Amino acid sequence: MQIFIDTANIDQIRQAAKLGVISGVTTNPSLLSRESTSDYEAVIKTICSIVSGSVSAEVLSEDAESMVKEARTKASWAPNVTIKIPCNAAGIQVTSTLSQEKIEINMTLCFSVNQALLAALAGATYVSIFVGRLDDIGHDGMQIVKDTVEILSHYQLPAKVIAASIRHPLHCVAAARAGAHIATVPYNILMQMIQHPLTDIGISRFLADWQQVSPK
Ligand code: E4P
Repeated sequence: MQIFIDTANIDQIRQAAKLGVISGVTTNPSLLSRESTSDYEAVIKTICSIVSGSVSAEVLSEDAESMVKEARTKASWAPNVTIKIPCNAAGIQVTSTLSQEKIEINMTLCFSVNQALLAALAGATYVSIFVGRLDDIGHDGMQIVKDTVEILSHYQLPAKVIAASIRHPLHCVAAARAGAHIATVPYNILMQMIQHPLTDIGISRFLADWQQVSPK
């Protein structure tokens, strides 16, 4: 399973990129609203200069025609921009159009297998299933990921399933078990995935033992 980072924060992206394990970045308007700038273009261009993999930028238009125009503009910002399109009727229509033009689409806000299937049929490169938001309303978000992975594979549809709206490190384990191609994770969860108290204790103990015998 690949790991994307789910943030529009440049410092976090720089730190995460240094680890060498990040394959892409997902942003959305809410994530961008937390940053000090509202210049979406500048933020996406900077992210694309840091990370060579897919960088998702979301459309803000609501009707199909405006979405197509906006998507074409955003796709021109950098070669690795992926356009995030919401999974409604207009979004599916736009995805069918743009996928013919070889523009990469990340179909966002998918909450059901049916939505994910239609997104894949429309030619989306990525299908993002919002696991945490489903769990929040008492559904089993990861089951949707698992079922979608199975069904897309059964019909040999090439869309990659992104487990999104990840809320804790165990979601990443469950996403990998469910066969998700990608989990997009906030920076704090990426750090939690790395940390383990026994690792820290182990490092301290090794250093303390070595200091007792090392030449002064
Ligand atoms: C995915 O691409 C989204 O940006 C993100 O995972 C949404 O997560 P949230 O439910 O925490 O807002």
